[in-house]
Parts: sequence; structure tokens; C-alpha cells
Amino acid sequence: MAGPPHNDTPQPSNWRADDPYDALPTLPPDTDLESRAVLRSAIAARAALAELKQAAGLIPNQAMLITALPLLEARASSEIENVVTTADELFRSLPTGSATDPATREALRYREALLEGYRSLSSLPLGTRTAEAIATRIKGVETRVRRHPGTVLRNDHTGATIYTPPAGEEVLRELLADWERFMHADDGLDPLIRMAVGHYQFEAIHPFSDGNGRTGRILNILFLVERGLLGAPILYLSRHVIAHKATYYERLLGVTAEGAWEPWTLFMLDAVESTATWTLAKIAAIRDLHGHTAAYVRQALPRVEAHDLLSLVFERPYCRIADVVERGIARRQTASKRLHELAEIGVLRVQPAGRQTLFVHPKLLRLLTMESNAFETYG
Ligand SMILES: Nc1ncnc2c1ncn2[C@@H]1O[C@H](COP(=O)(O)OP(=O)(O)OP(=O)(O)O)[C@@H](O)[C@H]1O
Ligand SMILES: [Mg+2]
Repeated sequence: MAGPPHNDTPQPSNWRADDPYDALPTLPPDTDLESRAVLRSAIAARAALAELKQAAGLIPNQAMLITALPLLEARASSEIENVVTTADELFRSLPTGSATDPATREALRYREALLEGYRSLSSLPLGTRTAEAIATRIKGVETRVRRHPGTVLRNDHTGATIYTPPAGEEVLRELLADWERFMHADDGLDPLIRMAVGHYQFEAIHPFSDGNGRTGRILNILFLVERGLLGAPILYLSRHVIAHKATYYERLLGVTAEGAWEPWTLFMLDAVESTATWTLAKIAAIRDLHGHTAAYVRQALPRVEAHDLLSLVFERPYCRIADVVERGIARRQTASKRLHELAEIGVLRVQPAGRQTLFVHPKLLRLLTMESNAFETYG
């Protein structure tokens, strides 16, 4: 918990943890958001993000990135809520979209919400309606801005109230309209600083009875896409947030309790920089593995045209014969033959799963689920 407010920092006048914070100030905050430290961080984060955008644009198989990275994001972001599943389990459940355990289902829904939000950007600017659609997707039930009071953030261990968001649909909708205006304001503020400020505000409004954190983290990524800072929703931003969850919570509260915008903004800028750098390195490793594998397959199976099939098994670390057929690459019998050939030369591994067979791509799976970007070469 934060200590008592300092005397020299601007403090929100009438905030108490137990009272609905209906007086949450509208945006922009009444403070200088662009200190030297913040600007320095923003420049570094912008540079890392620009590099990621460029590298992702150059990858021939965009579908691979859009399949895999939102799934990693989904796993990390859902873990914040203690919805724990493994990346391996998620990739395995991806082809069928069906999973038995609720945690995996919830994380798969997060990925769908992210992708659906991404697609909606071309017809609907980011706003309250986007947020409602995302929350609905994540929770799997129709979710609208709260009408009833009673939503409270509590300390998991002690049960003590940390923060009580504003109450009343009218109040919430007005604050959201103000947030939406700010997200699209044309006042020259750096977009990454705007993202940080907007994320705090969204969480402080806490428009839903659940799913606010995940919805807000999806909105961050969509905002970067809307601003053209990312071409696709591939930044694995929740990675940093989950790794520094206590700081994330502390600094959100710091803004409310002490008007401490700078530490909060720096936290988010840091998150962008470190995850852009991480994602960039991961993409480079996957691209290298793809190039290496293609060369190996040409040499080991010289008479087989495997280009499209390789693209597919680089999109799906767990692949089924049906996936090859659905993609129009080959009919069932040939598809099966081709996949088994890749298994014989060690690129894939056959894994029976009930009535069907999964073809696992172990090297790709390792890259996607492990920190390390190293892989053992073939041959
Ligand atoms: N002091 C705070 N003020 C405002 N928002 C906060 C504060 N502390 C945490 N939050 C936000 O509230 C979220 C939790 O709210 P909620 O349970 O509705 O979201 P969720 O998506 O279900 O959970 P989670 O974010 O834990 O996955 C946190 O992730 C964080 O974004
Ligand atoms: Mg929750």
C-alpha cells in the first residue's frame, strides 16, 4: 500500500479507498506529463517500437506472427487474473478452439478479443463500444458498462479495500466519453505517454464488474495500432506487466493517491520498450529457424514442394491433417503423406491425440514457449 501523500505533490482532493471515486479528474491530468526523464524514455520506447513494426512488416508469413504472438499476450495477460494456463496447452487447443479447462478457454477468448478488436479498428474508432465488445468476448457473456454499485478492488491477501471505482452508469459513461476524447485529442502529446495516461484512466474508471485489466491491456495494443505505431497486434506488452505486477498495481494506485503520474508513465514506457525489444528478438529467431528449416527440407526432401506446408507448420506448432486440407494445400491423403515425411526427417513429431493425430513442431514450440531464442540446427 502507498504511504501518506507527500506534501509537495499535487493530490486529488477527496479520494478515499472506501468511497466510490466519482470525482475522478477528467483528462488530461493537471500536471506536466512530459518531464525530461519521461521524454527520454518515450524516445527509447518509440525507437524500439518502430524497429519492431518494420521487422514484422518484412516477415513473409504475417499470419504466423498474428497467430502466435497474440496467444502469448493472452496467456500473460490472463495470468494477471490468476487464470493460469500454459502456452503449450494454448497452442495445442488452438486448431480446434476447444479446451477442457476453463483457464485455457478464457485465454483463448482473450486472443480472439484482441484479434476482433484489431479488425474492428477499420470501422470503429477505439472507444466505449470497443471496450464493451472486448469485455464481452473475454468473459464470454454480454458485458456492458456497470449499472450497479459494489465493484471494489481488494487486496488478495488481507481483503482490505484498495480502491473503489466510480459508481453509476451515468457517471461512468461520462468519464468514458472524456477518456475517448482524450485518446483521440490532437494536442501534440506523445502517443506512448497518451497510452499510459489512458490506461490509468480506464482502470480508474473500471467500467465493468470484471475483466477491466484485460480489456484495458487489449485497448493499449489497439491504440498503438490505431496510431500506426504497430501494423498488427503483435506487441507482447503484458509480458512486462505480469513480470512486474506488484509495481503495476502500486503505480496505478500512486496516481490516484498521490497524483504520481511520472512513475506510472515511466513504468508503461519501460514496458513498451522492453517488450518491443523482446518481441523483435523472438521474431528474428523464428525467421532464422524458418530459413534454416526450409533449406534443410530442400536438401532432405528434394522432390517435395513444401513451401506452403512449411508456412503452415510455422503458423501452427500443433498441426492436424485437416488444417492442411482446409488451407487448400493438399487433399487428405497427400496432406497426411507430406506431414509424415516432415516427421521422418525430424522437423515434426507425431503425437496421437484421441481419434486424430497432431503433428508437433518441437523447435518452433520451444521458441514460442521458452525465453531462449537459440535452436539446434538440423543435420
Ligand atoms: N489501484 C488501482 N486503481 C485502478 N485500477 C487498478 C488498481 N489496481 C489494479 N487495477 C487494475 O484493475 C485490474 C483488475 O481488475 P479486474 O479484475 O476487473 O480485471 P481482470 O481483467 O478481470 O483482472 P486482471 O487484470 O487481474 O487480469 C488490474 O489488472 C489493474 O489493471
Ligand atoms: Mg477480475
